[in-house]
Amino acid sequence: MNTQKASFLQDKIIGNLFFESSTRTHCSFQAAIQRAGGYNMNVQTQYSSMNKGESPEDTVKTMEQYCDGLIIRHPDIQFVHKCAEYSNVPIINAGNGNGEHPTQALLDLFTIKQSHMIDTSLKIAFTGDLKNSRTCHSLIRLLDRIHDDYLFYFISPHELRLGHAFLASLRNKYVCGTTLEEHMTELDILYMTRLQKERITDMTANIENVKITNELLNRGKDTMILMHPLPRNDEISVCCDTNKRSKYFDQMKYGVYVRMAIMEYMMNKKLKK
Ligand code: NCD
Repeated sequence: MNTQKASFLQDKIIGNLFFESSTRTHCSFQAAIQRAGGYNMNVQTQYSSMNKGESPEDTVKTMEQYCDGLIIRHPDIQFVHKCAEYSNVPIINAGNGNGEHPTQALLDLFTIKQSHMIDTSLKIAFTGDLKNSRTCHSLIRLLDRIHDDYLFYFISPHELRLGHAFLASLRNKYVCGTTLEEHMTELDILYMTRLQKERITDMTANIENVKITNELLNRGKDTMILMHPLPRNDEISVCCDTNKRSKYFDQMKYGVYVRMAIMEYMMNKKLKK
């Protein structure tokens, strides 16, 4: 990775509080902190005083005494907002339940920008668990905010469709469906997600996710890009990994740059809320 060392976090300690599993978000934040000259303080929630009955709120209040900024992921949608109300240090939302994942949306947008796509009218498909996928929620809202000439395709099993209120709030046009094949040749961006099994209340329904093979991907335009926030299950075949359209490894790399930029902004603005 070619990232010049920056120093805007020199002498700063950033606390990582992940109350939910994470590989990419957690590690890319850690990499970003270190590449900006700062120090990480990680609470291993499974070994912390939460095992002695301490509340997550008190855990955050504790970390606030030691750190200059906090990065929080929590399964409860409201938790990070409550923390932001009482915390004296800036807080970054690293994923709140099935709500939002704003830093992922920014790195996704950066990935789209790198493909020189952002200002044209685009056809963008989101597939998978649209009901529970916070990465989709944040990216759809962000794209909808910056442009009003996109066409969204929301392709998911019936049980996992976006809610009515969410759809009603969109300015751009959208089409809802359950199969990818019929739209493949039209798309500029295909953004796939896994089934969020930890959030789906009724897994007995035996829900089948939307899947892609390399053969199907090759039916897409030459300039089309395939994105995924990862982790994947079986929705993207590994045969797709070397396809020129696949950008999910680039997304990971850009995550470090974008999270560095977010933290620089945070420290400059001393954002609290
Ligand atoms: C996602 C997340 O945690 O919301 N991954 C990520 O942050 N890169 C997607 C997921 O868990 O499916």
